[in-house]
Amino acid sequence: MSMAHTSSQAIFLVFVVLSFTLSVAHFSSIHELLRSHGLPAGLFPESVKSYNLDHKGVLEVNLDGPCMAKYETRVLFETVVRANLSFGQLKGLEGLSQEELFLWLPVKDIIVNDPSSGLILIDIGLAHKQLSLSLFEDPPVCRSQGLSLNIGGRKGIGFQDQR
Ligand SMILES: *[C@@H]1O[C@H](CO)[C@@H](O)[C@H](O)[C@H]1NC(C)=O
Repeated sequence: MSMAHTSSQAIFLVFVVLSFTLSVAHFSSIHELLRSHGLPAGLFPESVKSYNLDHKGVLEVNLDGPCMAKYETRVLFETVVRANLSFGQLKGLEGLSQEELFLWLPVKDIIVNDPSSGLILIDIGLAHKQLSLSLFEDPPVCRSQGLSLNIGGRKGIGFQDQR
């Protein structure tokens, strides 16, 4: 009896701490928004500062500055990322690029047609890529440190594979 009492108290405490952490870090909102639209929460980094979704479904996501995150390849977020949000889709993306064969290519659409397939479709204009949804489950850390140097260097050299 007292053990059961203690563990329910512990669970309650964990719950309180967790919800406090989430609300302070602001990352429940955009990530919950994505989930409620059938998209994985990790499509945007944990450092999202704010977002706005207007009545037409235009989503604007604000970060502190440009930053880079690593999924299967590296992805560059600009300070403001825009897209049209509908169920299972981010269309007409602006402010998001993906590294592909040493080039930074703008990501146009991100689509989850069927969550049970476990696949997500990334449209980078030249190609469609099917990736595992699980890559995008958790919001990644997005790093701004050394960003301009890194990208400038890689643009200039262009033939350096770090994988
Ligand atoms: C996004 O939404 C705007 C406003 O509704 C619309 O004008 C635009 O064509 C849409 N873009 C795409 C790629 O769906």
